[in-house]
Amino acid sequence: MNDPEIHAAASRLRSLLAEPPELFIVLGSGLGAVAGAVEDRVEVPFTDLTGLPDATVTGHAGRFVGGRLEGRPVLVQSGRYHAYEGHPYDVVVAPLRIAHRAGAGAFLVTNAAGGIREGMTPGDIVLISDHLNFHFASGLRGRVRDGEVRFPDMTEAYDRGLRAHARAVADEVGVPVSEGVYASMPGPAFETPAEVRMLRTLGADLVGMSTVPSVTVARARGMRVLGMSMVTNVAAGLGEGVLDHEEVMEVGRSGGERLETLVRGIVARWDDAPPAP
Ligand code: HPA
Repeated sequence: MNDPEIHAAASRLRSLLAEPPELFIVLGSGLGAVAGAVEDRVEVPFTDLTGLPDATVTGHAGRFVGGRLEGRPVLVQSGRYHAYEGHPYDVVVAPLRIAHRAGAGAFLVTNAAGGIREGMTPGDIVLISDHLNFHFASGLRGRVRDGEVRFPDMTEAYDRGLRAHARAVADEVGVPVSEGVYASMPGPAFETPAEVRMLRTLGADLVGMSTVPSVTVARARGMRVLGMSMVTNVAAGLGEGVLDHEEVMEVGRSGGERLETLVRGIVARWDDAPPAP
C-alpha cells in the first residue's frame, strides 16, 4: 500500500473510532483473547479499509478492534498478514502504518514461538529483547514513507523501559517472564532441526514467523515497541515428536489467559512505564 492508500485507510479507521488510540496491540496465533476484553468496541474488518486484502491464516480473524482496554484507548489487530500467504511486505506492515497514522504511539506485539533456549517449555512467556531477521526483506524497501526514516536505529528496537515495565507488572500479577532473542523465519514450513541448531548457534532463544517486519517499520516511525512471545512448543528437533499448527493454537489458547492478565496489567499501569529514551 502506498502513502495515499495508508492515509485514506487511517482516516477512515479514525472516523470509525470514538477517539485516537494510544497503543497498537497485535495478537498472535491462538492469542486473540485480549481483543474480547476491549470495551466500547468498534470492529473494523481489514477488508473494509481500502486496499487491504483478507487475512486468511487459521486462527487469524483479520480485523481491527478499537475501544478501551483498562480505560486506555487502544487499537487491537486481530489476525495478521504473513509474507508466506503471498502478501508483499508492504501489505504485511500496512496495518502497523495505518495504526500509527491513526494515532498510536506505541506498539505492543505478541506472537506464538518455538522455544530454542534450553529449559524453555510450552506456556512460557518471554519478553523479546532483540531479534534476528531471517526474512532478508523489509517493509521499508522502496521510497521512504511519510513519517519514516530511511535508516532506523535498531540498537534498542525493543524499548528497555517498556521491558522493565512489563517485568514489574509480571512480578505484581504473578506471571513469570524471561527475556530472549526472537528469530523471525519466513515460513510457512516449521524449521528443520538443522535450522534450529543454526539459530541457536547464532544466538536465538525463540523462533517464529512474524513480528520483525512490523517492528522494523514501527522503529522507522519512532514508535516504542514491546514484544512478547508465548512459547507454544520446543523448536523442531529439540523435543519429542513433530510440530503441529493445531498444537501451537491450543497452547496459545491455554496459555493465553496468563498473557491476557499480563497485557491488561501492562496497559492498566502504562503511565508507570519509564518515559521514552
Ligand atoms: N517455529 C516457527 N514459528 C512458530 C513455532 C516454531 O516452532 N511455534 C509457533 N510459531
